[in-house]
Amino acid sequence: MLSVSALTAMRAHAQEARRAGRRIGFVPTMGALHAGHLALVTAARARSDIVVLSVFVNPLQFGPGEDFARYPRDLQRDTTLAAAGGVDVLWAPSRDAIYPEAPQVTVVPGPAGDRLEGAIRPGHFGGVLTVVLKLFGVVQPDVAVFGRKDFQQAALVRRMVRELNLPIDLVVSPTIREPDGLALSSRNVYLDAVARAAAAALPRALAFGVEAFRSGERNAAALADGARTVLDAERGLTVDYAACVADDLEPQVSADERSVLVVAARAAGTRLIDNVVLGEGLEEDIRVAG
Ligand code: PAF
Repeated sequence: MLSVSALTAMRAHAQEARRAGRRIGFVPTMGALHAGHLALVTAARARSDIVVLSVFVNPLQFGPGEDFARYPRDLQRDTTLAAAGGVDVLWAPSRDAIYPEAPQVTVVPGPAGDRLEGAIRPGHFGGVLTVVLKLFGVVQPDVAVFGRKDFQQAALVRRMVRELNLPIDLVVSPTIREPDGLALSSRNVYLDAVARAAAAALPRALAFGVEAFRSGERNAAALADGARTVLDAERGLTVDYAACVADDLEPQVSADERSVLVVAARAAGTRLIDNVVLGEGLEEDIRVAG
């Protein structure tokens, strides 16, 4: 595996690969890699000849008082995991390489970026889309892979790719879960034993919603309320929202197979988000071994 930091080196390597007719798969990350990221690498590998993984903790997507400073950073560990996971090029640019000047040109996600996570974290998705577009501009991938756990992020990137005519195939890969259903996330390292136990209520709330849907419930508000009741019953959680939305993030009155139940809560200050496509259920996701 090649490790590069300079933007010029990454660009040159990608250009060379393209000239050789190789298809580039790209997995953007903020590091603190886990099995969820490696599943994205596997998905990229299956669709391309060379896999580029970026590691960059993007300051633009963190709000004041969020965890930018303490976000887990361990490039050596990430390098080892990426190499073992089949990455061809690991690109870890510096902050100055990505933002040599305070950004004036940024991406505006539109109204869907102000809902759900966007309502709780104002400006978050503007920061995400801006950095993703910058990373795309350097790597110019044929395929980019994002995780389904960040459902709203994936939906907004999909819209950006479509609306800005970016020649990139976007792949959204299933969520990877712990044996008790908790979705893997770099932020799970913040959870102590009590918060970790409380966090398991998120997949339980989603499973409750899926069961209600399978039993015939189609009222989107009732499905969201049911999930919320499960979360509210967990004393270790502060619930941010439970909602049932269309796959393009539009609010819905009546749920269907493609509707997505999304939940967000905090356990001892750590933000947790999760979602399920009602017609698929959590069975479509992948469990790590117990
Ligand atoms: O999902 C993430 O890790 C980040 O939001 C991303 C897509 C790498 C942009 O910083």
